[in-house]
Amino acid sequence: MLSIKDVSKKYHGADIFAVENLNLQIKKGEIFGFLGPNGAGKTTTLKMIVGLLIPDSGQILVDNIDVVKKPLEAKQKIGFVPDNPDLYQRLTGLEYLNLIGDVFEVNPKLRKEKIDHYLEMFGLTKAATDLIQSYSHGMQQKLALTSSLLHMPQLFILDEPMVGLDPKSSHLFKEIMREHVNNGNTVLFSTHILETAERICDRVGIINKGKLIACGTMAELRAQKGSENDTLENLFLELTKEGESDER
Ligand SMILES: Nc1ncnc2c1ncn2[C@@H]1O[C@H](COP(=O)(O)OP(=O)(O)OP(=O)(O)O)[C@@H](O)[C@H]1O
Ligand SMILES: [Mg+2]
Repeated sequence: MLSIKDVSKKYHGADIFAVENLNLQIKKGEIFGFLGPNGAGKTTTLKMIVGLLIPDSGQILVDNIDVVKKPLEAKQKIGFVPDNPDLYQRLTGLEYLNLIGDVFEVNPKLRKEKIDHYLEMFGLTKAATDLIQSYSHGMQQKLALTSSLLHMPQLFILDEPMVGLDPKSSHLFKEIMREHVNNGNTVLFSTHILETAERICDRVGIINKGKLIACGTMAELRAQKGSENDTLENLFLELTKEGESDER
């Protein structure tokens, strides 16, 4: 579903790569957790997949579509919830959802079904006619999630989706991710919550200083480190130990 081949990215003026020679394959129907210390390159990678940044080199294919060469086709297949959703504050929630529905050409019947379903689930039905500027952080996250699922993306990408959410909302987000893969789609999300990653991901990848340093199922990661019962937290700390003091 997603193929990242030899992708590198250096920000303007930087002397080190934010992402360096990254190779990653994500299969249809899996929940993939993207882990790594602060500044490791997770957001940069996700932004390249969704077309917000262009890789310096390498290739990214979403369902065999090159995201740089055919951005519109690729974007039809992708839903993205950024780490800090920047929504149009002067629209109401409902206006925003309809705007996104128009952009993705979601037919009115399906759109209404999806909007009603998620607003109800998140307890946002009443607030939907209020301006977004009056929403709390969590409400904005929920609106961003709803808007990114209207076109039923085959690849659903979330950047640290659980940050700032209360336990119930965080649980709902996880349920929605699971439901989305159960419907035959694929989910890729970044997180620092290793317990969650261990529990809900089919596979995880760990990136450190722009390079993928581990990738696989929990069993594969344990086998790689020769430690049968280790938690993901222990494996993560062990794998990212080297040079931990020089956070970029
Ligand atoms: N707009 C930017 N301009 C210059 N450098 C940047 C920019 N955004 C990120 N970087 C640098 O690129 C590297 C990777 O950052 P990135 O945001 O991808 O990390 P991350 O893994 O998402 O971290 P976090 O867990 O803190 O969200 C870091 O060294 C960061 O300082
Ligand atoms: Mg980030």
